[in-house]
Amino acid sequence: MAWLIILLLLSLRLTRAEFPEISNKSKPDLEEGLLHLLLRLRQEEFFDTLLIYGKDCVFHQLTKSLELSTVLVSSGSTNFDWNFSSLTLILSCRLEAEKEMTYRTLMKLQRNRHLIYINKDIQAKSVCDLYAKKEQHNIAFVKKDFIQSKIITACRCFQEPNFQEVSLQESYPIYIENFHDIHRQPLRIMTDLVAPRSMVYQDPKTGQTKMIGYVANLINNFAHKINASLEVKSLSSNESFRNIIKWIKADQIDMAMTLEASVHATNFDTASYPYVLTSYCLMLPVPAKVPYNLVYAVIVDHLVLGILVLLFVVLSLLLIYSKNMSWQGLSLADVLLNDVSLRGILGQSFPFPSNPSKQLRLIFIILCFASVMLTTMYEAYLQSFFTHPPSEAYIRSFEDINEFHQMIAITTFKMNELNNINNRHFKTISKDNLKIFENWHDYLDLRNAFNRSYGYLVTEDRWNTYAEQQKNFKDTLFYFSKDLCFSRLLFLNIPLRRHLPYRHLFEEHMLRQHEVGLVSFWKSRSFFDMVRLDITTLEDLSRPKPYEPSLLLLDVSWIMKLYLAAMVVSIVCFILEILSKGREWGFWKYIKDFVGN
Ligand SMILES: *[C@@H]1O[C@H](CO)[C@@H](O)[C@H](O)[C@H]1NC(C)=O
Ligand SMILES: *[C@@H]1O[C@H](CO)[C@@H](O)[C@H](O)[C@H]1NC(C)=O
Ligand SMILES: *[C@@H]1O[C@H](CO)[C@@H](O)[C@H](O)[C@H]1NC(C)=O
Ligand SMILES: *[C@@H]1O[C@H](CO)[C@@H](O)[C@H](O)[C@H]1NC(C)=O
Ligand SMILES: *[C@@H]1O[C@H](CO)[C@@H](O)[C@H](O)[C@H]1NC(C)=O
Repeated sequence: MAWLIILLLLSLRLTRAEFPEISNKSKPDLEEGLLHLLLRLRQEEFFDTLLIYGKDCVFHQLTKSLELSTVLVSSGSTNFDWNFSSLTLILSCRLEAEKEMTYRTLMKLQRNRHLIYINKDIQAKSVCDLYAKKEQHNIAFVKKDFIQSKIITACRCFQEPNFQEVSLQESYPIYIENFHDIHRQPLRIMTDLVAPRSMVYQDPKTGQTKMIGYVANLINNFAHKINASLEVKSLSSNESFRNIIKWIKADQIDMAMTLEASVHATNFDTASYPYVLTSYCLMLPVPAKVPYNLVYAVIVDHLVLGILVLLFVVLSLLLIYSKNMSWQGLSLADVLLNDVSLRGILGQSFPFPSNPSKQLRLIFIILCFASVMLTTMYEAYLQSFFTHPPSEAYIRSFEDINEFHQMIAITTFKMNELNNINNRHFKTISKDNLKIFENWHDYLDLRNAFNRSYGYLVTEDRWNTYAEQQKNFKDTLFYFSKDLCFSRLLFLNIPLRRHLPYRHLFEEHMLRQHEVGLVSFWKSRSFFDMVRLDITTLEDLSRPKPYEPSLLLLDVSWIMKLYLAAMVVSIVCFILEILSKGREWGFWKYIKDFVGN
């Protein structure tokens, strides 16, 4: 920056030094006049580079006195895209000295100030028409009689006549922003009517068709700002989003009232500055509740059961040892079928020996404590799970999708896009788990209906309205999986025609709307706008049952059956015991006496 200022001061000094030597020859006179003009232009808007089109003219001599970096294009075209500073003033030695073909250079020619030296006698109107046809509007020119007349002619759009003559002595600006008011010129718009970005409705008062939504509002406000009229066409249902991009690329429409992701773009010629930053993830159906009859299985976890058995064995061993303070009489049956320990752990009463030793008392305390903890824990689990059963497992990774056979709905367009950018997450999903929709309307209909047969791809932005809608449901149907994102940093931009002359105004407008918080305000209102326009309903799509099924005896029947089986086994054991040991115990004699009496 510092050397630029020094250069500027240097050139100012040079000019001042040169002015006194008023030469008699016409050529140096012209040079001085133009130098003066360039310095004035530089004061109006800074430039640090000169781009000179054409051969051998008065501008070439000026570069010596200005000492700026200069690009000379005598042939009229450069075969590379504009890759020098944007702070460039373009000078042409004659009409149409530039014959540029590359897009980006043409875009820059549109924006940068352009001064032409015209040697012939030609009507100002036709010069401006010529450049207006090329959509270059920042044009001014001087004629060879400049030194006598001191007149600069600047082209003006949307005015009659379409040029203005500015004298070098006047302080009136030579270049102006032509597009602050485009006098109701049409802005050709195409909309895909994807809620909540753009939605159509009829104004109840005037009967006019209007657009609303956070993209539509942006464009409406812009049209209002530059005094443009809107010419909106909407995509018919059999056309795809690709058509919009095709028309934009073919310069058939000026702007699209939609958002395009720029992940797969090779260049950004038809894209605006990013409007929305979002992520692109999966919304998946919330897993179903565990049925009541499986709640028992849920609370008996393998690990916990293992720990309980271990505790039981340890307590049995301690009980046996502390009875006599020796391992005498230790047997496997005593350890595994220790009735004191078993009853203790299950929270039942058990015999408490009279005069127990200190150690034994301590172990009984541990046993009682364990029994209280275990029974209350299981009681609490069981009762809370019976009132509110837990969900089945959630999908946490892309591999889980294949494992759980979760179907994912997708449109052909999105699938090709994800394949083209070689998305590694997308590749992990097996083709069998994809349901491909040719028509994106079918896809949107399913997603909007919260159809739980599939998981869906959704931007976080759109998800927010679904989340809002779900708040009215009795049961949550979908969840937004932040772990399952195809892209976490997705820039969405508004497709614009390549040579839109007011692109810079639009982008500035976009940033302003963000700055004052309008965009987030519109987004937060999206869902209510959708409800107001009947695009979505407040209806509960979770289809709640009129009554929740209560816990039935049937649900715990297998517990009962287990209980019954255990009873039968113990009765059989008892009978077998009586049959084999009955004589020893004098059981039969007792029965005989009893019956005999
Ligand atoms: C300019 O040249 C003319 C003749 O060509 C001469 O009469 C006149 O005095 C000159 N003027 C100056 C300022 O030198
Ligand atoms: C400009 O771009 C062209 C290719 O597009 C390249 O050959 C050239 O070196 C670049 N010039 C500068 C100054 O970067
Ligand atoms: C918008 O353009 C129309 C048509 O040229 C013009 O009459 C009107 O004054 C303009 N509005 C504003 C606010 O400049
Ligand atoms: C869409 O339908 C219209 C008639 O409704 C038809 O004219 C047009 O050709 C169709 N476009 C495509 C791409 O099928
Ligand atoms: C969800 O979609 C599937 C397949 O498209 C369909 O068979 C099913 O009836 C839909 N479910 C609901 C609740 O509409």
